[in-house]
Amino acid sequence: MTGQHPTAGIDTSKPHPARMYDWYLGGKDNYPVDEAMGRQMLTLDPRVPVMARVNRAFMHRATRWLAAHGTRQFLDVGTGIPTEPNLHQVAQETAPDARVVYCDNDPIVLAHAEALLRGTPEGKTEYLQADVRDPDAVLEGAQKVLDFDRPIALSLV
Ligand SMILES: C[S@@+](CC[C@H](N)C(=O)[O-])C[C@H]1O[C@@H](n2cnc3c(N)ncnc32)[C@H](O)[C@@H]1O
Repeated sequence: MTGQHPTAGIDTSKPHPARMYDWYLGGKDNYPVDEAMGRQMLTLDPRVPVMARVNRAFMHRATRWLAAHGTRQFLDVGTGIPTEPNLHQVAQETAPDARVVYCDNDPIVLAHAEALLRGTPEGKTEYLQADVRDPDAVLEGAQKVLDFDRPIALSLV
């Protein structure tokens, strides 16, 4: 994990997409401003919570399929606040030796990243605080854990 203080940069006075997504999924890692904006969004389209669940279910299915078909390395960009099962739990259920690098640019995800690091002893998980618009930083961090001479599934869900 990067050395930044876990709560640095978390602004609870404004709604934030990762925390609103958490609220839609029924999580607890959100603030009243996120719920208020989430409810406002529901007046525009009441299907948003279903979309969030379907989105999450797609990530589970795709990860399970890849692990079952031999993929052992995953780079997950835009991880979001941990919601069980997380990508490494799905991958390592099928392939305990799977290696997963999570990456998000939101400090609140960093604050909760510990939950993403509890994987199998055979596998490995790591969290990077990085922005996908800085691909060099993402790749530099990822290659400390992933072998770029072997297949890597890139998840940008
Ligand atoms: C909808 S949420 C998480 C979705 C999660 N991958 C899933 O499938 O359930 C999208 C995440 O993308 C992150 N994100 C947005 N822009 C980003 C960027 N430029 N670099 C890295 N992460 C980003 C947000 O912080 C948020 O946590």
